[in-house]
Amino acid sequence: MNYRHAFHAGNHADCLKHALLLLLLDALKRKDAPFAVLDTHAGRGMYDLSADEAARTGEAARGALRLQGLADGPLAPFVAALAGQGFPARYPGSPALIRAALRPQDRLICSELHPEDHAALRAHFARDRQVSVHLRDAYEAVRALTPFPERRGLVLLDPPFEAEDEFDRLVAGVAELQRRFRAGIVAAWYPVKHRAPVRDFHDALRASGVRDVIAAEMWLREPTDPRRLNGSGLVVVKAPFGFEDAARGVLGALVSVLGTEDGAGVSVTRVVAE
Ligand SMILES: C[S@@+](CC[C@H](N)C(=O)[O-])C[C@H]1O[C@@H](n2cnc3c(N)ncnc32)[C@H](O)[C@@H]1O
Repeated sequence: MNYRHAFHAGNHADCLKHALLLLLLDALKRKDAPFAVLDTHAGRGMYDLSADEAARTGEAARGALRLQGLADGPLAPFVAALAGQGFPARYPGSPALIRAALRPQDRLICSELHPEDHAALRAHFARDRQVSVHLRDAYEAVRALTPFPERRGLVLLDPPFEAEDEFDRLVAGVAELQRRFRAGIVAAWYPVKHRAPVRDFHDALRASGVRDVIAAEMWLREPTDPRRLNGSGLVVVKAPFGFEDAARGVLGALVSVLGTEDGAGVSVTRVVAE
């Protein structure tokens, strides 16, 4: 496990993933009934943007830090959620953003396999009765912890894409989740380095039998160089009503700030029918 999210926190991929995540959480809160969220690759929860890791890559500087002060438009709720968690000094990871969005009746379950990041996350949520933190493999957590007793909620799959077969594991994970937890929303992040692996991923989702899949992507330049993270996407299974339009608004606003190179763009498309 070489991947450490501290080098990447607040980059364009985090902005895409977290701004869309907030849309999904908002939709879950349209009903009073409790929900649960499983964050399978949770990370450490909070990242110091003045730390060495952030300075070495400059990814947050080219990402979230460019959104500072934005108070209007589709990104305003995202920027306000970041500010509520100490941004711009710190960048909140997915568990911190999810936790801040919960109501008293909701809960968050996190799994993180890196011992240091797990310990930091556990400390972050010490004594928080609405959050549980597991030192556990993501896909094992899916099998052990879903479906939720609440019978509604969201599973976020956000693997580091270190393994060659990560796209295959993601397809298997999404398909298993739909079998186990038919009513649940599943959101899975993936890199857009070049087009071919993304096309194969979408084809594999269609072939897996999973129903009702939307893909929301943003790229900062034409995705032709497979060595660079040119963009990223989130596939959402069982996206709530209105998600596609809201995602188009959020990603359009995001690319207008972060997409400074030629060939930048966004797309929100249906990959598999309902
Ligand atoms: C992209 S980062 C997660 C970022 C986090 N979801 C966020 O948005 O703030 C991926 C995380 O997955 C963890 N990880 C890697 N393999 C894992 C596995 N098999 N099970 C659980 N966590 C894993 C890594 O240590 C890393 O912290």
